[in-house]
Amino acid sequence: MPDRDTQEPGPQELLRVEGVVKHYPGVVALSGVSLDVRAGEIHALLGENGAGKSTLINVLSGTTQPTSGQVLVAGEPVQLRRPRDAQDLGITTIHQELSLAPELTVLQNIFLGRELRRGPFGRGLLDEHAMSARVQGVIADFGLTERDLRRPVGEFGALTQHVVEIIKALAFDARLVILDEPTSGLAEEERVMLFDHMRRLRERGISLVWVTHRLDELYGLVDRITVLRDGRTVATTDTTESTPADLVRLMVGRKTTSLGVIAEGRTPAERPADPRAEVLRLENVSRRPVLRGVSLTIAGGEILGVAGVAGAGRTELARAILGADRIDGGRILVDGEPVRIRHPRDAYRLGIAMVPEERKTLGILADFPLDKNTTVSRLGKVARLGLMLDRRRERAVTRDYIDELGVRTTGAGERIRNLSGGNQQKIVIARCLFTGPRLIIFDEPTQGIDVAAKAEVYRLIHRFVAGGGAALVISSEIPELLHVSDRILVMREGAIAGEVRPDLRGDDLEADERVSAEIMSLAARSVA
Ligand SMILES: Nc1ncnc2c1ncn2[C@@H]1O[C@H](COP(=O)(O)OP(=O)(O)OP(=O)(O)O)[C@@H](O)[C@H]1O
Ligand SMILES: [Mg+2]
Repeated sequence: MPDRDTQEPGPQELLRVEGVVKHYPGVVALSGVSLDVRAGEIHALLGENGAGKSTLINVLSGTTQPTSGQVLVAGEPVQLRRPRDAQDLGITTIHQELSLAPELTVLQNIFLGRELRRGPFGRGLLDEHAMSARVQGVIADFGLTERDLRRPVGEFGALTQHVVEIIKALAFDARLVILDEPTSGLAEEERVMLFDHMRRLRERGISLVWVTHRLDELYGLVDRITVLRDGRTVATTDTTESTPADLVRLMVGRKTTSLGVIAEGRTPAERPADPRAEVLRLENVSRRPVLRGVSLTIAGGEILGVAGVAGAGRTELARAILGADRIDGGRILVDGEPVRIRHPRDAYRLGIAMVPEERKTLGILADFPLDKNTTVSRLGKVARLGLMLDRRRERAVTRDYIDELGVRTTGAGERIRNLSGGNQQKIVIARCLFTGPRLIIFDEPTQGIDVAAKAEVYRLIHRFVAGGGAALVISSEIPELLHVSDRILVMREGAIAGEVRPDLRGDDLEADERVSAEIMSLAARSVA
């Protein structure tokens, strides 16, 4: 490998990162990262929550200044002082939290800050015509129509929002597109479409750097993989040369306890003594057209999984139970008594809580410390004599959760916005547990959570039901549902299409395959 010895860029090298370090007060986010990206390759970036993936991406996109180290594009050292510098070099970044303006149209978002104008020197009125002509050649490839360009971005789902970012990249001749966890908000079939889009970009000679926590997504798509651990690059490998087990080992290093957790099979919770009392019952609950006659029961000590494709009504079901949306038919019973849940407050009083799907909008108080974020829904529990907040107790409870969930942070007093995405999600789960509910609805609970921490979340769910709680787990990841659920309901077009039971021993791969196939066929079959 002559180019490695001489430090000369290889003919196909597009980007090189050398010894990049980033310090924050009290935290070393990056302590010497190297990365090289070839022209026209899909390069995955892996690492545990807090390993430094997003920080590296922020450096490459010009939103964060490194403490030291350098970045080279096509062999030339570059300075990325602001996002515009990166854009001008052909680097487009799609951040972990999408940053489009929902009220602006697709076209306005694509050209935001770089509008094409009429008149001399491009100072005149916006030239909508020129802007739409510029993207004309690519929109159809990515499933958008001319009319879509004039609709507000907020009307579209997560996949289209990614597509808008991709078209934006193409409109400005990007050479490198960086995607930070693009698939965590997507349903199964949307992920597959996004993968097609990624391949299409590669065919155009564009390089991609892509962050994911799902190792199953890598094979057949990604060319090479770089693994970060504790702010450092530990390895770069060809995808064909490493197994998922190798990658996990690289990510967690010698932390054998985490490895042990991953290797461990399903841990069926100790169930409370029978008879198990029913906690929640839905009879023919409707909210047309998204929910059509849904009936189900959940008992204390039970974990009910909910599967289904995007738009099948899973989140709508959760919102109806929680009183976030009004139902227009059927009834809801708690402990066998019919109840009216008109507002999440009503649900909360009945002991029903939810870990929401979108932590950014529903989950966190960004500028507050972790302890406030943990206790905010139930301040009474940390108040002395019901009046004064007991700061020590607040800190102590939060510290327990930090340990239990392996939250990577400087401490309970840290502002939550400084945590990595996956670590914020863990705090959202902690808050929910802290309210001491009887039923928790988990909507995609491990979105953005790394492999080792996933096992911790599953353990927490199991422990919660072992104490008599009831859990409803909505997930797009079938393996996750097989792992945690006692029963799995499959939803389709707003109704229950069927129920399956996973094999609870958890070591029978054939049984798991069989149940997954059942779930997929129930989810997909069209209603007569
Ligand atoms: N603005 C900031 N101030 C202080 N610390 C920060 C800041 N941004 C990131 N960090 C810290 O830097 C470390 C790396 O965070 P980063 O977001 O890069 O992780 P990540 O690999 O993207 O994790 P995840 O998989 O959870 O998204 C974490 O310990 C995080 O708390
Ligand atoms: Mg991140």
